[in-house]
Amino acid sequence: PIVALVLAGGTGTRLYPASRADQPKQFQSFGGDRSLLTRAVERVSFADETYVLTREAFADAVHDHAPEAAVLTEPAPKDTGPALVYAAHRIREQVGDCVLLAVPSDHVVGDGFEAVGRRAAHTAVETEGLVTVGVEPTRPEPGYGYVEPGESREGYETVRQFHEKPDRETATEYVDRGCYWNAGMFAWTPEALLSAARASPLSDLVDALERDEPERGFDAVDPVSVDYAVLERAEGVFVVPADFAWDDLGAWDALARHLPADDDGNAVLGDAVTVDAADNVVATDGHVSLVGVSDLVVASYGDRTLVVPADESQRVREVVARLRDED
Ligand code: GDD
Ligand code: MG
Repeated sequence: PIVALVLAGGTGTRLYPASRADQPKQFQSFGGDRSLLTRAVERVSFADETYVLTREAFADAVHDHAPEAAVLTEPAPKDTGPALVYAAHRIREQVGDCVLLAVPSDHVVGDGFEAVGRRAAHTAVETEGLVTVGVEPTRPEPGYGYVEPGESREGYETVRQFHEKPDRETATEYVDRGCYWNAGMFAWTPEALLSAARASPLSDLVDALERDEPERGFDAVDPVSVDYAVLERAEGVFVVPADFAWDDLGAWDALARHLPADDDGNAVLGDAVTVDAADNVVATDGHVSLVGVSDLVVASYGDRTLVVPADESQRVREVVARLRDED
């Protein structure tokens, strides 16, 4: 069987202040009629079973947004590496033989996902490897992983090397060299992931899970994404190219690509007045007015307001880090 695993434990810091610690982006709709999480769960409805993998604090919210899915909570929030290893271990116990299809919940995905998801699952069984879904890049985005393909096979390609989040210059090289973006969607059998994790910084965690000591394993493990911990160093990685529209709603500039723009190129979510203002991103649950400014992100939610040049919107992370320190 295909078991879908929807990842929903992230905190979405770069979409502050819409995304807050208690209400991160996957639970928000950003102008659509259903939340990102609800849409992610619907997208994998062809799977035989669906689990949402999240941190304990979000379990109730996940139930509300995805009542049909089973909720699996990892013992501690340590990023996607430990979370996915934990899920592989638990689902192998609960379901037995299966192939896992892990998908994020912070994406906008067009039609055609099912065929690619099925092909990725099939490839994972056939190769007994780790399968990622590759998207044709349209810009040198430093916020993504890059998949360098090797040989072409029937329906998939071998992977020469996986590179997580390069700097912009290196990303430009990868794009020129014909790398794919890693769509953050993975297929593997529980055995394949666990055996790759045994040869990674997550090996102690695998041991702890096998000794039935998940809490102790999670206490000891450093937070790390599955991309850095496993995929960058694994042998036997394969890529299935995607042909659907795809975008990660990572930061405010990404959201702007999905909002209707007014005649002056302002992307507006919520109630705003713009006078002589162009190419701004405005998002608010209140009311925002802009006069005579351009290329800004202005986001205002509750009692929090953020203003940042649109091309520096990744730097919101720095604000959130500072706010956390002051807590
Ligand atoms: N359960 C759980 N626990 N889920 C988590 C955790 C965690 O600790 N941390 C993040 N997630 C979830 C997020 O909610 C999101 O749905 C997904 O895992 C991916 O996490 P992100 O934090 O959004 O990763 P990213 O966007 O920086 O990078 C990943 O995705 C890119 C494409 O969107 C990488 O896989 C990149 O290589 C990839 O290009
Ligand atoms: Mg993301």
